[in-house]
Amino acid sequence: MEIIIQPTAEAATSVAARLIARLLREKPNAVLGLATGSTPLLLYRELIALKLDWRKVTTFNLDEYVGLDAKHPQSYHSFMWENLFRHVNIAKKNVHIPDGMTKDIPKFCATYEKQIRAAGGIDLQVLGIGTDGHIGFNEPSSSLASRTRIKTLTQQTRKDNARFFGSEAAVPHHCITMGIGTIMEARQNLLLAFGPKKARAIAAAVEGPITAMNPASVLQLHPVTKVCLDTAAAARLKRADYYRWVYENKPEWQQI
Ligand code: PGA
Repeated sequence: MEIIIQPTAEAATSVAARLIARLLREKPNAVLGLATGSTPLLLYRELIALKLDWRKVTTFNLDEYVGLDAKHPQSYHSFMWENLFRHVNIAKKNVHIPDGMTKDIPKFCATYEKQIRAAGGIDLQVLGIGTDGHIGFNEPSSSLASRTRIKTLTQQTRKDNARFFGSEAAVPHHCITMGIGTIMEARQNLLLAFGPKKARAIAAAVEGPITAMNPASVLQLHPVTKVCLDTAAAARLKRADYYRWVYENKPEWQQI
């Protein structure tokens, strides 16, 4: 794992945006895995401002709530179109987001996996992290080999996301999410976390044991994972000084 600690969420986002911009310039038909939630909002704003060419880019989103129509304001379809897609020149046919209204969830999930493979696999997967260490909606105890499937949200995640729905009762109970095995097949993972509420989950993911109790910890086994943090999210890392030192002393050819 490469741990990149920056003074602010804006600075950490800039590093992530530069990495994605470089990928899209080097590989105009790149396949991106995308995330929703508060964390990637700044990233999407920055990517829009960079005026990159998205014509040949394909995207796969991590997850969607079961039971929310694509037009529902809190659906991840709405989120993605509102915060990124409508501002860039992406082709609608290249956008993939799980269908929360599908009548046959297992069949839909198997097809989603096939579509990722048919697109050539994900080049770079953007990830947030839950306060409980979830990635996508893979809650603690998710199989580290899991594939795209239905999951039941934890009470904590429903509480965390109540702010988007107005009340906890309005947060759906189920979701479709890419599995941890699916995420681990991305060629590169880029995890972002900002603010003090993420510090515990980040410390466990980066410096704790690999365990299904903190799904993000599995990224320790991934050969190319970058973790972009602000100071608050990095606050519980025991070796923060070392990570800063490594980043500041990267050889020029390795710099982002
Ligand atoms: P957040 O969610 O970006 O809204 O904090 C992250 C997540 O739950 O994965």
